[in-house]
Amino acid sequence: MGMKRGLVIAIDGPAGAGKSTVAKILAEKLGLRYLDTGAMYRAIALKAARTGLGPTDGEAAAELAARSRIEFGAGSPPSIWLDGEDITAAIRTPEIGELASALSAFSPVRAVLASQQKEMVAAGGMTLEGRDVTTVIAPDAELRVFLTASLEERAKRRYQELQAKGVDISYEELIRQISERDHRDYTREDSPLKIGSGVQVVESYGLTPEEVADRILALIPLES
Ligand code: DC
Repeated sequence: MGMKRGLVIAIDGPAGAGKSTVAKILAEKLGLRYLDTGAMYRAIALKAARTGLGPTDGEAAAELAARSRIEFGAGSPPSIWLDGEDITAAIRTPEIGELASALSAFSPVRAVLASQQKEMVAAGGMTLEGRDVTTVIAPDAELRVFLTASLEERAKRRYQELQAKGVDISYEELIRQISERDHRDYTREDSPLKIGSGVQVVESYGLTPEEVADRILALIPLES
């Protein structure tokens, strides 16, 4: 046996369940690196949009992905860089989220990003979150959590986030977008979002991100 790798906490869940906020808190509390796998899908979506590709251009997007350099900067939360450009803010729009969701249904796109993500996780010492990290990217993580909340709760949270950023979108439109996104994330053939066996479900309803993080901390196995 080699040296024990650092603790890995993997968190999956639907859009808007609060995964990123909670994963960031956990990473900070435990001194772990933080990997936002969704940001990588968004990075490819941004590049695809700029290249004129649409939601059905999965093959071309996979080729783009294979020729792209996605990096995370230092800092908390880490900035995200695409081919040397800081795209931290540019990927956080509803349009890029939609395109990321559509392109993530294509296996060739997933294959490129999954292999990069598995490599990043290999050294351990990481909190990662996404749609397939508990089942595909880090199935051997010491702790695997499925974070969930109702559609209305998630839409409300997104609405407040976007309002704060000055993005003009109605609550009803967010409900529509998020339920469509859920449908796509749960029903795609390759690595659909699901509660894998042995994954612990944490309901975030009515809890602050700190309280959710505390619940997850309490689930870390003692021997790790
Ligand atoms: O978490 P997010 O909203 O930033 O992710 C954007 C999209 O990327 C999401 O709708 C589906 C896709 N995604 C994925 O398929 N697998 C992941 N591990 C993370 C995100």
